[in-house]
Amino acid sequence: MNIQQQLLVRFKAVLAAIGAPENAPAPLTQSTRAGFGHYQFNGAMALAKSLKQKPRDIAQAIVDAVDLNGMAEKLEIAGPGFINIHLSADFISSRVTSINAESNLAVTQPQSQKVVVDYSSPNLAKEMHVGHLRSTIIGDAVVRALEFLGHDVVRQNHMGDWGTQFGMLLAHFSDKLQDNQVAETALSDLEDFYREAKVRFDEEEGFADRARAQVVKLQSGDEQCMTLWHQFIDISIAHSEEVYQKLGVTLTREDVMGESAYNDQLADVISKMKAQGLAVDDQGAVVVFIEELADKEGNPAVYIVQKSGGGYLYSTTDLAAMRYRSFDLGADRILIFTDARQALHFKQTEIVGRKAGFSRPETSYEHCPFGMMLGQDGKPFKTRSGGTIKLADLLDEAIERAEKLVAERDSGLSEQECKEIAAKIGIGAVKYADLSKNRTTDYIFNWDTMLSFEGNTAPYLQYAYTRIVSIFRKAGIDLNTIDAPVALQAEQEMALGIKLGQFVEALEQMVSEATPHVLCTYLYELASLFMSFYEACPMLKDDVAEELKMSRLMLAAATAKTIATGLDLLGIQTLDKM
Ligand code: ARG
Repeated sequence: MNIQQQLLVRFKAVLAAIGAPENAPAPLTQSTRAGFGHYQFNGAMALAKSLKQKPRDIAQAIVDAVDLNGMAEKLEIAGPGFINIHLSADFISSRVTSINAESNLAVTQPQSQKVVVDYSSPNLAKEMHVGHLRSTIIGDAVVRALEFLGHDVVRQNHMGDWGTQFGMLLAHFSDKLQDNQVAETALSDLEDFYREAKVRFDEEEGFADRARAQVVKLQSGDEQCMTLWHQFIDISIAHSEEVYQKLGVTLTREDVMGESAYNDQLADVISKMKAQGLAVDDQGAVVVFIEELADKEGNPAVYIVQKSGGGYLYSTTDLAAMRYRSFDLGADRILIFTDARQALHFKQTEIVGRKAGFSRPETSYEHCPFGMMLGQDGKPFKTRSGGTIKLADLLDEAIERAEKLVAERDSGLSEQECKEIAAKIGIGAVKYADLSKNRTTDYIFNWDTMLSFEGNTAPYLQYAYTRIVSIFRKAGIDLNTIDAPVALQAEQEMALGIKLGQFVEALEQMVSEATPHVLCTYLYELASLFMSFYEACPMLKDDVAEELKMSRLMLAAATAKTIATGLDLLGIQTLDKM
């Protein structure tokens, strides 16, 4: 249990005792302002009516009865009946001790859930571009945090590896191979390849027909066509894997469950919905009318599940995927990370899928939308010539820029060391800049801010970690095995200790809302509190008594471990030197 939950248990016990209704709200939160204690219980006001007493009297009754032994040292009633809770130094000290002594920062795991996470999911026709950066790194951070908390995660890379555009690509691909090109070189630049195929599709006589014929052959499982398709898919997945490796994300080939994997289930999805009268023929197509999403005139939304020529759609596949994830994988939660423009699609899919019985009622279906990455001009992020920015190029640039920064610092490190450091800083900066923004809003991509050593950035956090490591190096003490009594005296020690104890709360919030920025904000605040502590509370000065020094080093060690773990959950590496 985290601190908030431990306190809540004790307050809830008292509510029952003072005669509050069983489901009385019990709002207990971290205090957001200094001077209001560390946590606040604000439930007294809401009880005034049912208990027919003044809120302050109720607050007083709660304060008199609540047993916070071992946790808090002082309770105050403020304003109309807020209860400010001041945690005791001993309670916090013991937390700091456990963080240092136990593995996994002494985090107790909640009940484990089966969580299916659909993320990255690029379209194989094209090279991964910056739009997939967000899905990939946000999804990966959430996955890591879920696993850290003991959940059973199934990664699903729902790659766009099927559909009509593949007819065009295959037709072009097979021509190139006939010209004796090796498959890899024919596909060396997916972007170019796609463009060439599209030009031929639009302009070359007979090509479009051949492309369409390829689709039909592909969908009916024609062997030659499938072989070609497999080759194509393999090479493009390998391209994505290169990006994953560079980014340090945990996706592997085993996690690929592309659209094609559902192909043989689509006919059944349609016939089940038709049998229920949910899907109906409409102008040659098969559609579901969604009354719940009717427009102002009362016309229901139209959700197409099969095209007039018999072809299936993105939506059909998502219904099949929902059924597979809920029933076959037994998901408690399904999380899908795509940009916000797909929000309506997933809202409709959930309504239709639930009606069709493609989800167990208890499976929670959560589309996690994200905003766009914008350029300095506030417009969608593009190359100077207006093209889409390839993810691979962006990452290379990040590393190059970080190399320059590292070189400027003149840290006396070898060239090889500088290169390794630059890679960690560069990639970390790009990831953190994205993760630290509220997921749902658009954000402006800015090299200078993300690579800055000041502010809420990866380099700032990486530097805070490195600094602590170097303190331990100087002290000749092992950060990982330090064990000494912790006594919190200074205000800065107490503030840092409490923040350390709140790591789990941040993590749990991040995981339940699928919002990595919550963890980023936490880490940034933690590092900032450390800096204040570091200035006010010397550790290695000669006049610091040994006990005090060790107690402070315990705080520093717990901070380093928490930052390293937190960054690792965000997919960002730390450095012992920089
Ligand atoms: N391939 C899609 C795209 O790039 C994202 C797929 C997301 N997952 C899903 N189940 N639809 O937009």
